[in-house]
Amino acid sequence: LAGILDTKIGIIGGGQLGKMMAQDTKKMGFHLTVLDPEANCPAHSLCDRHVVADLYERRTYREMAETCDVLTYEFEHIDAEYLLTLENEGCRVYPTAKNLINIQDKLTQKRMLQEGGAPVPEFTPLDKKNDIFAAGEKWGYPVMLKTRRGGYDGKGNAAAERPEQVEEALNSLLPEGGNINEIFVEKWVQYDMEASVLACRGLDGAIAVYPLAKNLHEDSILRSTAAPAGVSPLIAENSRRIGEMVTEIFGGIGMFCIEMFVTKDGLLVNEVAPRPHNSGHYTIEACYTSQFENHVRAVTGLPLGSPHMKTAAAVMTNIISPPFFSGAYRVSGAEKALGLQGVTLHMYGKQTARPKRKMGHITVVGNDLNEVRKTAEEAASYITLVKD
Ligand SMILES: Nc1ncnc2c1ncn2[C@@H]1O[C@H](COP(=O)(O)OP(=O)(O)O)[C@@H](O)[C@H]1O
Ligand SMILES: [Mg+2]
Repeated sequence: LAGILDTKIGIIGGGQLGKMMAQDTKKMGFHLTVLDPEANCPAHSLCDRHVVADLYERRTYREMAETCDVLTYEFEHIDAEYLLTLENEGCRVYPTAKNLINIQDKLTQKRMLQEGGAPVPEFTPLDKKNDIFAAGEKWGYPVMLKTRRGGYDGKGNAAAERPEQVEEALNSLLPEGGNINEIFVEKWVQYDMEASVLACRGLDGAIAVYPLAKNLHEDSILRSTAAPAGVSPLIAENSRRIGEMVTEIFGGIGMFCIEMFVTKDGLLVNEVAPRPHNSGHYTIEACYTSQFENHVRAVTGLPLGSPHMKTAAAVMTNIISPPFFSGAYRVSGAEKALGLQGVTLHMYGKQTARPKRKMGHITVVGNDLNEVRKTAEEAASYITLVKD
């Protein structure tokens, strides 16, 4: 009789998130198939079977559905419509294809959040260019234009500081002849802090919510995450409630990351990702059950583990390749970084660097957040990528 541990798992995408999911699937001994177009992708050496193929090929999805018991993904810009077809034929996909379809479109996502009672910044869909000026007059400038689909690391957003910049912001997002319906506009949020919670829902309906963590972005790319975020108990409690609420709104199974703004009036949800997230990497060393392990537990139907921190403080710092760096590389400074107390180094094993590509991260744990932060800065300063 096959038990849960005999579940064959398939992951679409074998980058760093796929790799860290793979580490936990293999920890528990699951059979793992990974789909990724790169022969030497980060998850390659950890899976039982690597399907080297395009991430959007329907034939490949079907083959994965036929050979795996459950499919999940590390990346949300995939063919969700076809996953829905496979799901309707009996394939298990978590988070479900419907979750993915709703979240892929940032406007649909925002509407569902709002209708479900989650606090979100004011936003409005667009029929014509004048709707942007109307929003600017109503809310004041800047306003933030966002493409509904395909955005990441700030690509897909453009702010207009003044009415005169609206045209330029719009053109930067909309391809020539593109439909303005593909963009929506959001009120500018004057936030004190960006933060996120991870919320995971198991097949039995149990929800595990991780502590609110504080995120620092540089050029819209996550630079570091600190946990706990250091907010008041009330805000911490609200973030937990929002975490539960969001998984209920989408009815999701698996890990969800909820990015939020902390403002003087409380929390606003910025966006939701239906997967483990860069801002949750600290959970590997700092929590009883990491975001990746709980995700694997959720999609296979195992009970969830505790999301609580087992250390007082943690800081994760991304190792990002420099803006003008491409090609083969070596990592230097690991000996010095790991010589400091509480430091863990993760290198993803990407074959080549590209400008501002996420290549690895450092996590530091300890008893005091200020100390941990200092150590993280020092450790990160030692790690450099050099041309090979
Ligand atoms: N309404 C807003 N007001 C102010 N800053 C914003 C707003 N929306 C997004 N941002 C900033 O842009 C960053 C990226 O936007 P986000 O919507 O999270 O897109 P992405 O999918 O690229 O992560 C956010 O982390 C935040 O710093
Ligand atoms: Mg974001």
